Amino acid sequence: MSDDIGFGVIGLGMGKHHCMAIDKAPGARLVGVCDLDEERLKPVAEKYRCRAYTDYSTLLADDDVQVVNIATPSGSHAEIGGAAAAAGKHLIVEKPADITPARIEQLIEAVQRYGVKAAGIFQSRLDPLNNRIRTAIQEEKLGRLIGVHGHLPWYRAQSYYDGPHGSWKGTWDMDGGGSCMNQGVHTVDLLQWLAGRVKGVMAMFGVFAHDIEAEDQTVALLRFESGALGTLYTTTCCYPGYDQRITLYGSHGSITKDEGLLNSWRLVSDSERVEEQEMLALFGGDRHKASAAADPMAVSFDGHTQIVADMVAAIAEDREPLITLDSARHAVEIIHAIYESGRLGREVTVRR
Ligand SMILES: NC(=O)c1ccc[n+]([C@@H]2O[C@H](COP(=O)([O-])OP(=O)(O)OC[C@H]3O[C@@H](n4cnc5c(N)ncnc54)[C@H](O)[C@@H]3O)[C@@H](O)[C@H]2O)c1
Repeated sequence: MSDDIGFGVIGLGMGKHHCMAIDKAPGARLVGVCDLDEERLKPVAEKYRCRAYTDYSTLLADDDVQVVNIATPSGSHAEIGGAAAAAGKHLIVEKPADITPARIEQLIEAVQRYGVKAAGIFQSRLDPLNNRIRTAIQEEKLGRLIGVHGHLPWYRAQSYYDGPHGSWKGTWDMDGGGSCMNQGVHTVDLLQWLAGRVKGVMAMFGVFAHDIEAEDQTVALLRFESGALGTLYTTTCCYPGYDQRITLYGSHGSITKDEGLLNSWRLVSDSERVEEQEMLALFGGDRHKASAAADPMAVSFDGHTQIVADMVAAIAEDREPLITLDSARHAVEIIHAIYESGRLGREVTVRR
């Protein structure tokens, strides 16, 4: 019998990326997959020669499954995660951990009560360029942060919302919103991971180019606890879909990038522009990473593989995973405040 950790995946849209990641990560073994939709379930179970379940409680009763990856619609994560924790399974939970801070809190309580480990998915935090930027900010290379800006001009055709698995997308009760909660949560998390907590927001949102309930375009002003101000723009209306743009301005320098491509790294301290040349050689030029700007499945599974490998290591070393659910909660707190601000038409404090 292999010593590899047994994994089970629930939800086989993005969950297929989890299967690829488990297949690739050292020390991990895919034991079973689960989906309500048998047309999605069968080919995946055949491809990986693993067990197939249509009812997640049966997967949770499988003793060979030690870790459950949850990739079902976002508004079901806390319920399924709570049941998995009660069954003694460790968890890897897709973003957002759930669609309200209160539900994420309930999930965290269940994880603590049953003594299991839980990881969130924010793969941008594992990106080497994002890590170099975060270190530069922590080392105060930019001086005092002044402006922190995230733009996500993505495109989704109406068929994305109309397809057989589209009906929950862009709804308040299962997606928790639209472009900001579903697509934008990565950008919101990245901004707060780089620049620290957000204490207040002022926002507008609406439905502009799709037949959906929640929103397909949101703009927000952000007030960071550090004193920096920022802007956030998320949409699924921008044909043909452009890469996420992050712009950081400090009192002693600026960094701008498009997805994984560094555009500029200008620091007052780098007067000979040596560091800039090094950074551009590593992360600039014409290198282009896979991006979901126009295609939701065009996400690399490298980040998911690292998160699976980290869970295997966290179990072996009995430590917390790199991306804790507690750290994954603030993005949802910020987005909640954004929607509340948009409804009220005034600045709203981000509640913990
Ligand atoms: N990390 C990323 O970059 C990334 C990208 C896309 C989606 N996601 C996240 O992944 C999750 C799923 O999104 P998606 O786009 O794959 O959605 P999807 O609708 O395509 O897939 C969800 C699957 O879950 C199944 N399902 C629903 N309820 C179930 C249940 N009770 N038991 C078993 N199966 C069930 C559905 O049949 C469907 O096949 C969402 O939380 C989304 O935010 C993350």
